[in-house]
Amino acid sequence: MKRPSTRFMFHLLTMVFLAAAVPAVLALAGPDEDSLMEEGAAALKPFKQQLMSALVNGLKEGPEAALQVCSEQAPGIAAEAGSTGITLGRTSHRLRNRANAPAPWMEPLLEKYAADPGLTGATLVELEDGGHGYVEPITIRPACLKCHGETLAPGVEQKIDALYPEDAARGFSEGDFRGLFWVRMAPAD
Ligand code: HEC
Repeated sequence: MKRPSTRFMFHLLTMVFLAAAVPAVLALAGPDEDSLMEEGAAALKPFKQQLMSALVNGLKEGPEAALQVCSEQAPGIAAEAGSTGITLGRTSHRLRNRANAPAPWMEPLLEKYAADPGLTGATLVELEDGGHGYVEPITIRPACLKCHGETLAPGVEQKIDALYPEDAARGFSEGDFRGLFWVRMAPAD
């Protein structure tokens, strides 16, 4: 009788130990990643809001005026939205403004999202310098089609041709993957 009960105790202890150890190991990998994802999402929030209100305000004057607003204000909004250790912006596999060209770490992510339209969540990657990159996919909505759709108003088309002679960002349909919001977070000190 004595032996089985010792063995039983041993098994019980092993199980208790494992049950306690597994969540502890997961927890080590978890919060760090979660808080980086949260940091990325929080950094993007005001940037997205400002872009949207610039677009909505511009569109009140019609798509041609909005185009001017977008082309003049979008780059500055991105620069201002950054903070210490954080840079952010937009990029695409089909660029309008070459200044939004992807950094090397963004290229595989653009390919991944472009290849899989079902992928709607954010992605966090570790960068070579020990910092992190965070991206969220951008999807084409009806309001975007005025300047990124298949058929554009003649005035809009002319203006885009003049401002962006190498434009590759038209011909999209609603629901298409348009590009990425990105955040680059410097390594923690
Ligand atoms: C009034 C015209 C207009 C509308 C409407 C518009 N865009 Fe744009 N879009 C532009 C212009 C101009 C640029 C280039 C500005 C810049 O330098 O970022 C641009 C750039 C972008 C970029 C940056 C990547 C690149 O190709 O340079 C993304 C992503 C984008 N637009 C997505 C959208 C989405 C999503 C919507 C709908 C919510 C939208 N746009 C609506 C005119 C427009």
